[in-house]
Amino acid sequence: MVDYAALFSRTLPRAVATPEGANAAVKYIFSVTNAVPEVIAADEYLTAIRAGLDAGGPNSLAAYPPAGGHTGLRELVARRLAANRGFDAAPDDVFISDGAGGAITILLESFINPGDPILVEEFTYMGSLRMMLERGAEPVHVPGDDDGMLPDALDDALKSLDNAGRRAKFVWMIPVFQNPLGFTVSEPRRRALLDVVQRYDVPVLENESYADFRIDGDPLPPAFAGLSDNGDVMYVSSFTKLLGCGLRVGFGVLPPGVKAALPQVNSENLPRRGVSHLATMMVYEYMREHEAGHIAAVRAALQTRRDAMLDALEQNFPSFCEWTHPQGGMLIFVRLPEGADTWATLPKATRRDVKYNPGGVFRADRQRNNYFRLTYSHNSPEEIREGVARLAELFREEGYFEG
Ligand SMILES: Cc1ncc(COP(=O)(O)O)c(C=O)c1O
Repeated sequence: MVDYAALFSRTLPRAVATPEGANAAVKYIFSVTNAVPEVIAADEYLTAIRAGLDAGGPNSLAAYPPAGGHTGLRELVARRLAANRGFDAAPDDVFISDGAGGAITILLESFINPGDPILVEEFTYMGSLRMMLERGAEPVHVPGDDDGMLPDALDDALKSLDNAGRRAKFVWMIPVFQNPLGFTVSEPRRRALLDVVQRYDVPVLENESYADFRIDGDPLPPAFAGLSDNGDVMYVSSFTKLLGCGLRVGFGVLPPGVKAALPQVNSENLPRRGVSHLATMMVYEYMREHEAGHIAAVRAALQTRRDAMLDALEQNFPSFCEWTHPQGGMLIFVRLPEGADTWATLPKATRRDVKYNPGGVFRADRQRNNYFRLTYSHNSPEEIREGVARLAELFREEGYFEG
C-alpha cells in the first residue's frame, strides 16, 4: 500500500481549528449564507443555458474558455459596477472566477507567503480567514466601530508592522453588509481609511459579496475601488449569493498590470482550475433578462426573513444580549454575556437540529466565543422562528441567560 502521507506537498493547507458540529446535517441552517432557495428559477435558468449555447455555437463548449472568462459576462460586470458601485472598471480588468472564493484563492496564492501579515476587520468572514490561516498568513484584527475599521487603529497596526520591518500584503475589507458584523462603511470613513493605506503604500482587497442585498436604509456609498484612482484596490464579488451558491460564478477586478502578471487568470487555452463556462453563459443570459426582477425578489425574501429573525430574537433572548439590526445582507451577529461559550455548545445545538457559527471562527485566535452569527437566507420565516426558539432554550439551559 502506497504511503500517500509521505508524498503530500509541503504546501498542503495547514490544519485550522474548527468547532465540533460544524459539518452536522441539520434542519435549521443558520450557519451558511446560502442563496434564497425560493428564487432559484429552474425554468428560466434552463432557458438561459439554451440561449447561451445557441449564441455561442458548438465551439463555446468544445473549446477552452477565453482568458479571464466569458467576454459578455465581463462586460456585464463592468457595466453593473459603473451603474451600482461608482466604479469604472474596464472589462479587460475583470476576470470570472469560481465564486468570490475562487478569486480570493488566486489572490492569496499570488501574494501570500507564510508569515505575511494581512490586516482584517475585528471579526471577518470565516471562509477567507481559514484560507489565510491555511496558507500560513498572519491575519491582524484591526479594532473598529459600527462604521468599520477605525482609521487610527489601522494606522497604529500598519505603523507597528513598519517598525518591526514587516509589511502587510493587503488590508482585507468586507465594507458592505460586513460578514459577520453587518455594518456598511460610510463614504467619509472610506476616504479616511484610503488616506491611511496610501500613506503606507499597502493595497486594499475589497470584498463586496453582499452589495446586491440592500433591504432598507440609506443607498450604498461608492465602492473603495470607485473612490481611489491610483490602482490601490483589488476587488472581488460574486453571483453565488444572488443566483445560487452551487453555480460557483464570481469575479475579481484587478488594477491594470496586476491581472497581466497572474497566469491563473491570464492564460488562453489552458485547462486551469476555474469556473465552468456553461455556468457563466447561464449567468450572463439570465442576468440580461431577469436582473431587476430577480434582485427585487431576493431582497423581498430577505426582508421577511430578517424581520422574522429579529422578532424571534426579541421574543426569545433576554434584552441584555445584543444583536445587530442589519439593513441588508443575510446575517445577524449576537453577543451573549461574557463566559458564554458558543464554540463548546455547537454540538448540543446540532443535536437540536440548529446550526450557527461561534464568534471564534471569525477570529484568527479563535477567541470571543460569547458572540455568534446567525444567517437568515436559507430557512423559511416559520423555520427561523422555531430554530431561534430552540437555540434560546439551549442557551438558557446552559446558563448563558443569567446575566
Ligand atoms: C464575505 C464573503 N466572501 C466570500 C464568500 C464566498 O462566496 P462564493 O460562494 O462566491 O465563493 C462568502 C460566502 O459566504 C462571503 O460571505
